[in-house]
Amino acid sequence: MAVYLDHNATTPVHREVVEAMLPWFSQRIGNGSALHSPGRAARAAVEKARAQVAALIGAEPDRVFFTSGGTESDNLAIYGSLGLLGAGARFVTSAIEHPAVLSCAQAQEDGGRTVARVRPAPSGRVDPEALAAACSPGPCLVSLMCANNETGVVQPVFESVQAVRAVSPQALFHSDAVQAAGRIPLDVVSLGVDLLTLSSHKLHGPQGVGALFIRQGLDLPPLLHGGGQEDGMRPGTYNVAGIVGFGIAAELAARNRAEDMEYVAAMRDRLEEGLLRLAPSAVVLGRDEARLPNTINVCFPGRDARMLAANLDALGIYVATGSACSSGDDAPSHVHEAMGLPADLSRGALRLSLGLDTGEDEVEEALRAFGQVLGNEKSRSGSWSAAAGRLWKRSSPK
Ligand SMILES: Cc1ncc(COP(=O)(O)O)c(C=O)c1O
Repeated sequence: MAVYLDHNATTPVHREVVEAMLPWFSQRIGNGSALHSPGRAARAAVEKARAQVAALIGAEPDRVFFTSGGTESDNLAIYGSLGLLGAGARFVTSAIEHPAVLSCAQAQEDGGRTVARVRPAPSGRVDPEALAAACSPGPCLVSLMCANNETGVVQPVFESVQAVRAVSPQALFHSDAVQAAGRIPLDVVSLGVDLLTLSSHKLHGPQGVGALFIRQGLDLPPLLHGGGQEDGMRPGTYNVAGIVGFGIAAELAARNRAEDMEYVAAMRDRLEEGLLRLAPSAVVLGRDEARLPNTINVCFPGRDARMLAANLDALGIYVATGSACSSGDDAPSHVHEAMGLPADLSRGALRLSLGLDTGEDEVEEALRAFGQVLGNEKSRSGSWSAAAGRLWKRSSPK
């Protein structure tokens, strides 16, 4: 039995989503900008999906702009805001953001902008006061993710918005909610954010479609110029099938989230406890913080995560290494580095992310495979690496 434990990379598309999308590939033709009946029907389907996505995050539908995914939404939010705020504006973000944000930060810094990257506590949580302290009273954009893709640690976005606004009332606040959407409750009004990034394929929708929430009254300059779709904010022919699928996925996530995530969290806890029984020296990152219900970032001291992942792969268990989440390189994880995690622990870190398709049988199968690839953990417990793990655990704040 194969067990897919990489839902933070991408999720299987729900059957209902596939069924809703299929007609838009062939039977139902029509460019959503065309004025004839099929075109108007396509546009109506896009608008229905906009309302479904907006409902997931408590937004007005006309404040949701469809894009090609999380990466584009992050770029649009950051380049758009900084373009609006001007050359003197500061960009404050955390050191644990996804590369879609951190690469923008680097490009902005290379272009001469002042950029601050705030490090988290060793637990993986960013301190709102530290973010606020990095802001200036002048124009400023802050970007803090809702939940980290490697550790699953939920970030204090609401508290950070409050802290930042106390220092810089005019600051714009963006949050990347790609991993959080559909997994924890999200409401743009109560969070108080100006911009929020979503991606369909992390919540059982299709790949290649996402959205950016832009609060009312915020007129960003677009990244792309063209035919005027999405109120000119994101021109280009509508990806009707993808947008329809995203809409259904968002509706299902909004309707079933609480129950579904309770189940996923129970499976996550079962897997996590089983792993810690197999490998008592293992360290689970962010365990004392609020975490996404589906994510385990676990370090096996003295082990090479790539070897473990390859051996698990051979047994049909698909996991991610914490250190090579996006590009496949073997540089240490920037998230672990920012948390101050010893390199030995980071080298042995795996990210296991569960989904609705991860049931008890999958958890048991995964644990069997882990038992095989980890071998006799007890014989290794006197090693230098295990000691490093224990030390780090002790120094991590609760
Ligand atoms: C936190 C976060 N932001 C952005 C992205 C990029 O989203 P997309 O794959 O839709 O471009 C990802 C993808 O892994 C992510 O985890």
